[in-house]
Amino acid sequence: LDDGLARTPPMGWMSWERFLCNVDCETYPDSCISEDLYKRTADLMASEGYLDAGYDHVNIDDCWSTFERDPVTNEQVADPDRFPSGIKSLAGYVHDKGLKLGLYSDIGTKTCGGYLGMQDNLELDANTFASWDIDMLKVDGCYQDTDMMGQTYPELSRALNATGRPIIYSCSWPAYLDPDYGEANDGEVLKELAEICHLWRNWDDIRDDWGSVSSVIDFWKRNSTDDPFIQVAGPGHWNDPDQLMIGDNGLSHSEERSQFALWAIFAAPLIMSNDLAHISKESKEILLNKEIIAVDQDPVGHQGSLVWSSEGSGDGDTYGGETRVWSRLLNDGSYAVVLQSTHSMGTATKVKLESSMLEGWGEGVKFTARDLYAHEDLGEFEGEMVAEVWPSDVEMFIVDLV
Ligand code: GLA
Repeated sequence: LDDGLARTPPMGWMSWERFLCNVDCETYPDSCISEDLYKRTADLMASEGYLDAGYDHVNIDDCWSTFERDPVTNEQVADPDRFPSGIKSLAGYVHDKGLKLGLYSDIGTKTCGGYLGMQDNLELDANTFASWDIDMLKVDGCYQDTDMMGQTYPELSRALNATGRPIIYSCSWPAYLDPDYGEANDGEVLKELAEICHLWRNWDDIRDDWGSVSSVIDFWKRNSTDDPFIQVAGPGHWNDPDQLMIGDNGLSHSEERSQFALWAIFAAPLIMSNDLAHISKESKEILLNKEIIAVDQDPVGHQGSLVWSSEGSGDGDTYGGETRVWSRLLNDGSYAVVLQSTHSMGTATKVKLESSMLEGWGEGVKFTARDLYAHEDLGEFEGEMVAEVWPSDVEMFIVDLV
């Protein structure tokens, strides 16, 4: 949506994957969905360097509302026990820290968790949410026929715009269509999304394990320069491969490095879902890697893609898994490159980047490379560069013509 918002992929934190729909604050006072959780997270985002690194949204997900609208005004209402001060006051708290507040709802009759949905009340709810001073709204697609979404998602986009408050609009519409059957990738829905939403979830929910994260990565194994999913991304309209699982329990250090590097190649929103009060030094270091964040936030906003894989080259790997080269063109003409190994056995594989893999570079050209995880300049190369990549791991570089 070209209205000046989300010119680079949104960054922040969202409660969903880590805290789900836990509403039992008596048994779980520290992890239930309540204003305390969002306040504590906002405090840590501001005090622990996340806000400085660009993570500026604190996003409420499902299960914040009551089950019934206000009998008099018909407005949505926050659960009074878990959000005693209300969403507007929470927004004030978050804004005082220099952060922004995101909220969640659903285009259908109910949210995926069974709470209040927006169907038949799009304008009213847009006005209510705007009056609460929210800055971002994720709109899910449970409990609505997908045939209606071509009308309802654009209608809500207009209603949000009419409130006059700048609100980043995140649409889950394509996640309810099936790309394998052409519903989402015929280009038509994607073009419409780019006009009405700032970001959209392409696929099913990510989970805190490598199988899930790698299935999302595999969805993005799209190497053609005319792939509609890749072409549609840009300032104001982003594909959303879902939350970062970094700092949770399911990924190894290598897998966390892989997710972060590849999300930057994908020009993905960087939305963490973790407990910032309990996070390892190593995970925090990945999340705060400013060189990789700069790739993600590159102002031109070209989404990167797969440029080579051992599978595609027929260079088969006996023990399963493959090696891959991904690239993303940056605004100054340099490329961000990720060398990935999806092997789950053995030691490091030597993966070769050839200059001819990068569009416009040709064979045998001279280039420099900088390692974004080691924060080291590696010097000059001619035509190719080889790096050792461990199973389930990546190496990430910026390469630039000499
Ligand atoms: C869907 C969404 C998730 C989350 C839940 C909440 O599954 O895809 O991201 O918002 O609903 O119930």
